[in-house]
Formats: sequence, C-alpha cells, structure tokens
Amino acid sequence: MDLKDKIDPQRLPRHIAIIMDGNGRWAKSRGEMRVFGHQNGVESVRQAATTAAELGVGFLTLYAFSTENWKRPKCEVDALMNLLVLTLNSELGTLMENNIRLRAIGNVDQLQPECYSQLLDTMEKTRHNSRMDLILALNYSGRWEIANAAQKLAEEVKNGKLDPENIDQDLFNNYLETKDIPDPELLIRTSGEYRISNFLLWQAAYSELYFTPKLWPDFRRDDLYEAILDFQNRERRFGMTSEQIKPLINK
Ligand code: IPE
Ligand code: IPE
Ligand code: MG
Repeated sequence: MDLKDKIDPQRLPRHIAIIMDGNGRWAKSRGEMRVFGHQNGVESVRQAATTAAELGVGFLTLYAFSTENWKRPKCEVDALMNLLVLTLNSELGTLMENNIRLRAIGNVDQLQPECYSQLLDTMEKTRHNSRMDLILALNYSGRWEIANAAQKLAEEVKNGKLDPENIDQDLFNNYLETKDIPDPELLIRTSGEYRISNFLLWQAAYSELYFTPKLWPDFRRDDLYEAILDFQNRERRFGMTSEQIKPLINK
C-alpha cells in the first residue's frame, strides 16, 4: 500500500507550513557552493506544492527568506534573490497547470525591485487559480509581523478609528499578514533543527510540529505523506483533556 493511500482525506490539514532548511549543508556535503543547494531545493518546492495541491490541502506556506537571512554574505543573498526571480518565471506553467494561486507574506515591497516586480507579476497571473494557495514567506519574520500589526493598530487608535477596548485576539489577527489564512495545523521543519526561527509565531500557537532530519533538497512526495500521516496519528487537545476531545472528533 502506498503511503498516499494511508492518508485519510477527511482529516487533512487545511494549512501546512514548512521551514525549508538544510540547503547549505546539502551542497557542502557534495563539495559544492551553498547556492547549489538552493538550486536543488527548487525541485523539492515543486514536489511539495504539487503533492499538497493534489491531496486537497488548501494552503501551503513555505519559509523562503527570513528577515534575518539578510545577514548572510551578500553573494548568497544575491544568488537567492536571483533564483527566486528565475524560479517564479520558470514555474508559472506548474502553477497554472496545477491551478495554484501564488501569494506572499512578509515585508515584500522591501525586496530588491526586480524580485518584487516578478513576485507581483506571478501573483497577478495566478490570481484566479483556486485549488490551493501557495504562500511564500519572503523577507518575513514573526516578530516583524506582530510589531507591524501593533503599529497599524496604534495608528488607528491615534486617528480615532479604533477604541483600544475593542482590541482582542480576533481583531489583532486581522492586522497580520495572514489575516484571511487559517492557522497552520501542521508545521514541518527539515534538516534536523528543532527551532521555529521566527516563523509564524502567532499562527503556530497550536500547530503540530514535525521535524525530519532530511535536508530540504532531499525532501520528496513521500516525505510530505509521512509528515501528514504522523499528523493524523496525533490527538490535538487545545488545552482540553483526552476524554473531552474524543466525542468531538467522533461527531
Ligand atoms: C534553507 O537552507 C534556505 C534558506 C534559509 C534560504 P539554508 O541555506 O539555511 O541551509 P543550511 O541550514 O545552512 O544547511
Ligand atoms: C530559517 O532557516 C529560514 C528559512 C528557511 C527561510 P535558517 O537557516 O535561516 O534558520 P537558522 O538560522 O538556522 O535558525
Ligand atoms: Mg539553515
């Protein structure tokens, strides 16, 4: 029996988020430059996106470039931005064939102009696609997003448009980059690192975390199936007890 057939289609995560990590180590272990790892990670992105879309996952968010990644050597940052432009361009066909809408979260207008305009172009061309939203986290960090939301709220209070008493979690959510995106039920990180690295800090409050030692360029369809199967074997309690949760699941 294929791994895929073991997945219960009724209990798929609606939103999967992935911290794609390990490109540099993958390249280094082959005696290559780090950028070679990033280039080989593109096939993993393609497989993750098409597999998730085929299964019926609604949203797939990929952490592609963090706010902190600007601290890397300039040549690596330039190579990553260049790869982003090339990939957005070359993968338009994949997005259209698979009916995938491209979106982005992060401080994207601060990306290099060529990147930003390519991103806008691909988002525009795929905007009517409806099978799955592929969300790239670019120049993104969770703390930036939360501080940014606080700033927008403060502006509205200052302008008399908002009463501070009305600020609650639901309202705050509306000021985040992910305002119309459900929280990820499953958060995957590759490369054997056990940390969040400033990704979706607010949204991952109750995400199931899945860590795999696989380096991102080695991540394939079966690895995504395995993560989903692992997710389906967990009991999500949201602060309640097991006894409380069971009747809710079986309803
Ligand atoms: C993830 O791989 C890609 C990005 C952060 C852009 P890394 O480049 O972090 O690879 P490692 O972790 O150094 O192996
Ligand atoms: C997280 O990976 C960011 C992305 C995958 C884009 P990093 O490789 O930058 O994270 P740290 O530095 O190991 O925490
Ligand atoms: Mg890394």
